[in-house]
This record gives sequence, structure tokens and C-alpha cells, in this order.
Amino acid sequence: MTVDDAIEALSPQALKMVKNNFIIGLGSGRAATSIVKLLSSHIKKNKFSVRAIPTSLQIKMEAEKGGIPIIEADQINHVDLVFDGADQIDTKGNMIKGGGGALLREKILISIANKVVIIADESKFVKKLDRSVPVEVHPFARNTADIQIRKHGGKPHIRLLERGYPFVTENGNIILDCEFGQIQNPKELAAKIIEIPGVIEVGIFPKPDIIYKAKKSGKYEIIR
Ligand code: A5P
Repeated sequence: MTVDDAIEALSPQALKMVKNNFIIGLGSGRAATSIVKLLSSHIKKNKFSVRAIPTSLQIKMEAEKGGIPIIEADQINHVDLVFDGADQIDTKGNMIKGGGGALLREKILISIANKVVIIADESKFVKKLDRSVPVEVHPFARNTADIQIRKHGGKPHIRLLERGYPFVTENGNIILDCEFGQIQNPKELAAKIIEIPGVIEVGIFPKPDIIYKAKKSGKYEIIR
């Protein structure tokens, strides 16, 4: 049994939230990919006319493969439902996201969604957030933002690709992965970091509406 089996097991219930004519935000990463594959057969089976807004080229290509109609964010004024994954989730539902660099678009869609559904494997769940926080920064602020983040107790590391090239987001920015140790107050920390000039977005996200914890046993838990 794998986490993918758990995602398959939870999908009938998760996909029940999809209604005809819905605008669906698609997060990025493995969990989002798994649900997009199942969403594709679900909408075909039910003859639903839905439109999806992808948060990255990665998930856009998955949606295209599944024949899910795509629209751009500037064509919509609301999102009915978002399916997304997470890098870490604490007991209060605060999340760290942005492992794939799609945090800005994920945060935008989540902020206007009527319902946010997160699917994450059991290894992502912790008492308090303690993994590095992705911070999307304009390249001009690479050093100045680094200095300011350190003043808030962070240790930033510029995200690099395998051969040492800087990772550039789909918005043309860089990512500083910032270690803060155990984060006592995620909301307060995010509010301080977003104030730094040149910071575009912070990978700390508020509690979603529904969290599915996918287990290696192939079973799952729902956290609301
Ligand atoms: C993309 O930038 C991220 O926010 C992903 O949602 C997050 O990294 C979870 O991805 P996985 O489902 O691949 O673990």
C-alpha cells in the first residue's frame, strides 16, 4: 500500500465537492497531480463542464493531459474549490508550502477560494512547523531581503538547481529557503516577512477548510 492508494481511496469523497460549472484552482506538486488525474475521469464520467486554473506549468500540463479545460486567472473573479498539497502542516492546520516554487499563485487562488482542500501524506504532519520556509523574493532584493530576514531570526539560503544555477520562479523571482527553527507563531512571522521590501510572498499558509491525511497503509483521515 502507498500514499497514492490512500489518495485513490479518498478521491470519491473529495471529488464529491466538485459541482457542474465549478472553477477549480489546481495547486502544484505530487498530491495535486494525483487528484488532477482522478478529477479528469470524474468530470468526464459526470459530463461536468468545469474550468481549472493551474498554479504552475507542471500542473497545467497534467490538466491538459487529462483534457481538463483551462482558464487564466485574469478571466475569473472567484474560485469555487482549490485542490492542493503541502510541505508541512502543524496541529492547528498552519502550513508551509512552496517546495515546488508555486507559492505565489497558490496563495492567490487560496485567498479567493470558497473551499480549500489539502491532501498531504502523513510524513508532513508535525506538532509545530519547523522546516525551512520558502520566501519568493525579487532578484533585486536578493541581499537586502536576506539581511532583513536574518533580523527576524531566519537563516536564508538561496534555492539552487542541481548545477548551481539559481531557481527562478514562473514569476521571474528567486526563492530564499529560510530556516527559523521551530515556528511558535506562524501568522505573526509571515506578517513580518511579507513587510520586507522585495519580498513577493511567504510560504506560510493559514488553515484550509479540509485536510486529507493520506497514510502509507492506504487509509486516510479527514481533518477539518
Ligand atoms: C508547490 O510549490 C508546493 O506548495 C506544493 O503544494 C507542496 O510542495 C506539496 O507538494 P507535494 O504534494 O509534491 O509534496
